[in-house]
Amino acid sequence: PSVLRRELVDIHGVPLFWCIVEEWSQVESFEARPDDILIATYPKSGTTWTCEILDLIYNNGDLEKCKRDAIYNRVPFMELIIPGQVNGIKQLENIQSPRLIKTHLPVQLLPSSFWKNDCKMIYVARNAKDVAVSYYYFYQMAKLHPEPGTWEEFLDKFMTGKVCFGSWYEHVKNWWEKRKDYRILYLFYEDMKEDPKSNIHKLLEFLDKDLPEETVAKILYHTSFNVMKQNPSANYTTMEKDAMDHSVSPFMRKGISGDWKNKFTVSQYEAFEEDYKKKMKGSTLQFRSEI
Ligand code: PPS
Repeated sequence: PSVLRRELVDIHGVPLFWCIVEEWSQVESFEARPDDILIATYPKSGTTWTCEILDLIYNNGDLEKCKRDAIYNRVPFMELIIPGQVNGIKQLENIQSPRLIKTHLPVQLLPSSFWKNDCKMIYVARNAKDVAVSYYYFYQMAKLHPEPGTWEEFLDKFMTGKVCFGSWYEHVKNWWEKRKDYRILYLFYEDMKEDPKSNIHKLLEFLDKDLPEETVAKILYHTSFNVMKQNPSANYTTMEKDAMDHSVSPFMRKGISGDWKNKFTVSQYEAFEEDYKKKMKGSTLQFRSEI
C-alpha cells in the first residue's frame, strides 16, 4: 500500500486516513498505562508545541536530551499506522514509562484503556478559523491528505466536518465536557501565545512537577516559535519529502493567532460566524472573542 493513496474513510462517522481505519482494531485495543500522559488535540491546534514543552519538562529542560530524536518519535502519534512505514502503537510499546502520547482522536474514539487507567490528559484547543487556515496549508504539504481543493471548497469541508478527524466543533465540545469527569487539563493555543509562562506553570502543577525558574525560562526560550522552527528535531523537516513537502508550506508556518484575517473574505467570515453560533450553541466552551 502506498502513502500516495490520499483518501479518507469513515470510522464510526469520523473521517480518518484509510490506513488507520484498516488497522482500527489495533488502535481500539491499545493498552494505556496508568502513568501515560496523553496530549489530545484537533489537528493544527498546537500539538507539536505542547509535545515539545512536555518532553522538555520530563527531561528537566535538558535540550540535548530533547534533541535525541524527532518529535514524532519522542512523542509518538498513537493512531498513525501506515503499513510498512509507521505504527504509533508499536512505537509506544517500546517506550519506557512515563510515556508522552499524541492523539487527534475525538473523545468518543479514544481507546477505552485511557479511561480505565484514569490517565492524565492535556487537551489543547485553538480557535476554529485559525485551525481551518492552518489545516488548509497542511492538507497541501502533508501528502497523506486528499487534495484540499480551493480555499472556498476546503472551508466548506471544514465546516461540515468532512476533513480528517472530523468536526472541529464536536471535537472541542466533547473533550470539554469530558474534563468534568476525568483528569483533563484543557488549554488554549491563544493563551499559550499570550502568556506561555503561566501555561507552563499550569502544566507543571497538573503533572505534580516542580522545576526551577531558570529551567522554565530555558523551556520557554526553546519552545518559542522562531527557535522551534529552526530545530530539526521539532520542525518536521526530517520527514521524507513525499510525506511532507515543506516547499509547498512549512510545517512551522506562521505560529500566530488571528492569521485567519488574511484568508477569510468578509462573506466567508459572516457565513462562518453564523454557522459557528448554531454549532456551538448550548456549550459553555468559549474562545477569546478578540481573535
Ligand atoms: S499537527 O500536525 O496537527 O500535529 O499540527 P500542530 O502541531 O497541532 O499545529 C501546527 C500549528 O502550530 C504552530 N506552532 C506553533 N505556534 C506557536 N509557537 C510554537 N512554538 C509553535 N509550534 C508550532 C504551527 O506553526 C502551526 O500553525 P500555523 O498557523 O499553520 O503556523
